[in-house]
Amino acid sequence: MTPLKNDTFLRALLKQPVDYTPVWMMRQAGRYLPEYRATRARAGNFMGLCTSPAYATEVTMQPLERYPLDAAILFSDILTVPDAMGLGLYFAEGEGPKFERPLRDEAAIRALAVPHVEDKLQYVFDAVASIRQALDGRVPLIGFSGSPFTLACYMIEGGGSSDFRHVKAMMYGRPELLHHILETNARTVIDYLNAQIEAGAQAVQIFDTWGGVLTPGAYREFSLAYMQQIVAGLKREHEGRRVPVILFTKGGGQWLEAMAETGADALGLDWTTDIGDARRRVGDKVALQGNLDPNVLFGSPEGIEREAGRVLEAYGAGSGHVFNLGHGISQFVDPAHAGVLIDAVHRLSRPLHA
Ligand code: CP3
Repeated sequence: MTPLKNDTFLRALLKQPVDYTPVWMMRQAGRYLPEYRATRARAGNFMGLCTSPAYATEVTMQPLERYPLDAAILFSDILTVPDAMGLGLYFAEGEGPKFERPLRDEAAIRALAVPHVEDKLQYVFDAVASIRQALDGRVPLIGFSGSPFTLACYMIEGGGSSDFRHVKAMMYGRPELLHHILETNARTVIDYLNAQIEAGAQAVQIFDTWGGVLTPGAYREFSLAYMQQIVAGLKREHEGRRVPVILFTKGGGQWLEAMAETGADALGLDWTTDIGDARRRVGDKVALQGNLDPNVLFGSPEGIEREAGRVLEAYGAGSGHVFNLGHGISQFVDPAHAGVLIDAVHRLSRPLHA
């Protein structure tokens, strides 16, 4: 394997000294880029991109050709995992993801089993290997999965939801059924992320997009406990280097101390928590990733620089910060504004590492 030419991202996740604050953006490969929309049109649809290692590599590389990003992220989706479990993922035009067979009755839930990921998700591992080749050591590659709870939300609701009625009905009415789903998801995610690491992912992120809709007690029992199980089951070293794990619970700012106890190397923050307060709360335990409000990118270039500077200042001097948005970049953002942000982070952060 080619040695890494830029390992700033991995060093920051491990709180090792860096020259500047590394930056990547959640959903950095996506619809705000015209070249992404062109490739998706050639592939036919979104799943056509995900299931073809050549297309997945092409779109992963697109934001890196435009911007001096410090990490690449595998192009795929968290919902390929429930698809591999037989739920039948599809994307209805303009409606987001949906499942043909959501988990609504006890028989379907009892029948849920850990799939053989090498059979069902080999296209993902092939994409990881292909992206590593295309990167040729330029920056590290991030692998990812959804958290067991976030996956369960889509599996039970059958798609996106605003009230999580079915998941919460199960949580409060038949908690043992939800635990069975979460246990199956956690075991699957362990296999899935370990296979991504074996294929070449150099860090992994667990996206807990919906953990923040839970009460504090339910968050610990139904989301955090299963993420902790995953962290404990992951291969933490590969190719002679530590493979850092990042946990991101959107809306999880009040639970950072508990998240830091899981053994993760870093925590992702959305924009509702002050990153300086977060740093004081978690101390030396973990690095932090975030946390610019993604909507700042709709403002002026001057506004983007000012807000990026505020996040950098709030974290303060020293390593342990990976700059990111607090959630994915919107499809309506002007690509030039993303460039302004990345340059500002690099320029404004150098004095913090002098
Ligand atoms: O970050 C990256 O660049 C890597 C690719 C990536 C995608 N999805 C591509 C995608 C990643 C890391 C994800 C994760 C994901 N997928 C999450 C967790 C992170 C988050 O955003 O909270 C979730 C909840 C999903 C499920 C999902 N996939 C939804 C709700 C949607 C529709 C929403 C939308 O933006 O339309 C998707 C589709 C999807 N996944 C797109 C992309 C680029 C847009 C599909 C398209 O091209 O039409």
